[in-house]
Amino acid sequence: MRFGHFDDNQREYVINRPDTPLPWINYLGCEAYFGLISNTAGGYSFYRDARLRRLTRYRYNHAPFDLGGRYLYLRDNDTGEFWSPSWQPTRTRLDKYECRHGMGYTIIGSSCKQIEARTCYFVPLGETLEIWRCSLTNRRKKPAKLSVFSSIEFCLWDAHDDATNFQRNFSTGQVEVVDGVIYHKTEYRERRNHFAFFACSEKLAGFDTQRDTFLGVYHGWDNPAAVERGKSFNSIAYGWAPHGSHHVKVNLEPGETKEILFVLGYHENPVDKKFDPPDSQTINKKSVKPVIARYLNSKNVDAAFQKLRNYWSDLLGIYQVQSPDIHANRMVNVWNAYQCMATFNMSRSASFYESGIGRGLGFRDSNQDLLGFVHMVPGRARERILDLAATQLKSGGAFHQYQPLTRRGNNDVGSNFNDDPHWLILGVAAYLRETGDWSILDEPVQFENESGSEQPLYEHLRRSFNYTLERLGPHGLPLIGRADWNDCLNLNCFSDTPGQAFQTTTHKDGKIAESVFIAGLFVLAGKELAAMALKRKLKAEAERYLAEVAKMETVILKHGWDGAWFVRAYDDFGKPIGSKVCQEGKIFIESQGICIMAGIGLNDGKARRTLESVNKHLATKHGIVLQQPAYSKYYLHLGEISSYPPGYKENAGIFCHNNPWIIIAETMVGNGNRAFDYYTRINPSAREDIGEVHRCEPYVFAQMIAGKDAPTHGEAKNSWLTGTAAWTYFTVTQWILGVRTEFDGLRVDPVIPARWKGFTVTRRFRGNTYIIEVQNPKGKQRGVKRLLVDGKEVAGNLLPVRPPRSGPIRVEAVLEG
Ligand code: BGC
Ligand code: NOJ
Repeated sequence: MRFGHFDDNQREYVINRPDTPLPWINYLGCEAYFGLISNTAGGYSFYRDARLRRLTRYRYNHAPFDLGGRYLYLRDNDTGEFWSPSWQPTRTRLDKYECRHGMGYTIIGSSCKQIEARTCYFVPLGETLEIWRCSLTNRRKKPAKLSVFSSIEFCLWDAHDDATNFQRNFSTGQVEVVDGVIYHKTEYRERRNHFAFFACSEKLAGFDTQRDTFLGVYHGWDNPAAVERGKSFNSIAYGWAPHGSHHVKVNLEPGETKEILFVLGYHENPVDKKFDPPDSQTINKKSVKPVIARYLNSKNVDAAFQKLRNYWSDLLGIYQVQSPDIHANRMVNVWNAYQCMATFNMSRSASFYESGIGRGLGFRDSNQDLLGFVHMVPGRARERILDLAATQLKSGGAFHQYQPLTRRGNNDVGSNFNDDPHWLILGVAAYLRETGDWSILDEPVQFENESGSEQPLYEHLRRSFNYTLERLGPHGLPLIGRADWNDCLNLNCFSDTPGQAFQTTTHKDGKIAESVFIAGLFVLAGKELAAMALKRKLKAEAERYLAEVAKMETVILKHGWDGAWFVRAYDDFGKPIGSKVCQEGKIFIESQGICIMAGIGLNDGKARRTLESVNKHLATKHGIVLQQPAYSKYYLHLGEISSYPPGYKENAGIFCHNNPWIIIAETMVGNGNRAFDYYTRINPSAREDIGEVHRCEPYVFAQMIAGKDAPTHGEAKNSWLTGTAAWTYFTVTQWILGVRTEFDGLRVDPVIPARWKGFTVTRRFRGNTYIIEVQNPKGKQRGVKRLLVDGKEVAGNLLPVRPPRSGPIRVEAVLEG
């Protein structure tokens, strides 16, 4: 069952009923000011850090799920009837409803009582504010007398404190209302130099800034007292809950349309210019007033919106495909790339499943996210890499997370996730492949954010590699630490106390439990590092890396091969996990994917053997589950993985993030049919028809789809912020379509379904545009045998880097098997 459809030309997803199975959301903003917005206008906004600079309040895990947002209320002043044009929060029946989620904007349109409303929400590029552009049309045969009320609840900045520290916070709230602009200035009197503003283009009939006055003490959001009586109270908040509500009266002739602009934003003043007059407590509004004035003008709003559209056309234009598969096309061309930018901006901090108060930016996550966005914003990728590397420990280890505002490692979570350091090598390699900017390796970067500790980035990578060598276990495999990629395989945790954090509780000294996954990752990253060393003409060093890699491969084959697949780990008792000797958890996905991606088993048939095992034991019609059989009970020595009921999350859920590893592995053995089939199973667009089962947005990947052991097999959860975004994007663009970045050029090596007759990719790369037409006349799955560049046949399938030229480079590639 569908709840909407894709408008591919507009790059929009169109939702045509408000009661989607879950809130289907979008992100506003792509630089510093961000908002989450659901299809019924729920969500919140923040400046840079979802926890520390939260502008508006949101109620998590509420019933109904989605409460708090950018609400408008319309009231018919003749009858007293009122409704929400975005359906929530009044949930009045709408005669028409449509939500269009687009690239950085959302438009919610509806019709109720013959009044049409259409509100476009977006964040202009380069600004720290959001615009709500609302137009109202009277479709009645007679004039309409309406009131419009806006409504947002201000958050007292630190979203965690705001939700917990009421004894203080109920007494700190402060606002100013000047010229119809509502200023939220809690704590501005002391150590904050920032405030929020909420402005409206129209003359106000009134306003409210105290939530409980606006709502009425015993009213809910569905019948605010001010809306019910048709008149604001002009309340000024002293303490309690500062609120932003404008009241505008609109009289519309039949057929008449009127536009109202609302602008909500964040502004900072220099410390010595906070107040005006200087000895007062009044916000100095000199620098904010022109900003507000600019966006209360609809011409400027038009221009800003067009600029945003162009920005996305340009970014998405870097990689475009026309293939026989519509689902692949729209995900590659629009939505998957767009989701990659969201994960870049948010990491795993703010979504409808990540509260924005818990987690900072993950070291592992942010490095992997690079795979999906480096081609779009290489400059920002560079910055991100350097920020991440600066939190690296001198030991080569990494803080597991860092806070975006302070760019400091997060002490609460600490380090010892022993896979972390290698993701930095892979992230940097992806950057180098895309940009050829080798200078990044010489960039001085601090360790542990300590000044004076600067070393070239390259030295950071060396330490990442050595980190593992200095932490080998009894079989010569890497010690796992608190966890590896699988945060829930906590082999040193042994927690029997409710509430302890699995990721940070450690009851063992960590000298025994080992990870085959990290071993495979080490091989993969080690080969990358060796290639970088060679580029830097450090031959002996490269040889050393390769020797260590070869040693590790031998250890993997000796202790990490189980006969038909790769073992997953060894526990604190030295017993294998993910082996045929286990009762439960006999086979895991992660070690299969990473070992084959690292090249292990490609020459001796083990890779193919492994992939058959994956197909037999792990693949389901909804995707590939993480392991089998699921753990049926809690195992003290395994940790969080066994805390989940079977079929969910890491306990045999379809953890979409690592499905692409298997897909890449399938392409490496040349199995294009199966690679694409697996891709399609988790592709949200291909799952659009089963919306009532899948439940999450059909335009973005979810972290998890319930596995076959779960009663809700096929149900997705945790959409948007997931490594799945980058990995699927990387996999389909570089391994299936096979237009792959390398240090010295673009490789054309598609591995596709035999039924495809061909496809075309347009790729901007290092200053040139390539139009690559792949033909598959013989129904092969791989093997470019003929490559023509500008009509001339060339040897091999690598397009070497060339000086930029103005016209596109035309490439024809013929698959002949
Ligand atoms: C989740 C993991 C996640 C971890 C982060 C766990 O509860 O299952 O997917 O990586 O929390 O702390
Ligand atoms: C989600 C986390 O963000 C990621 O870092 C981890 O690898 C996966 N869960 C698997 O546990």
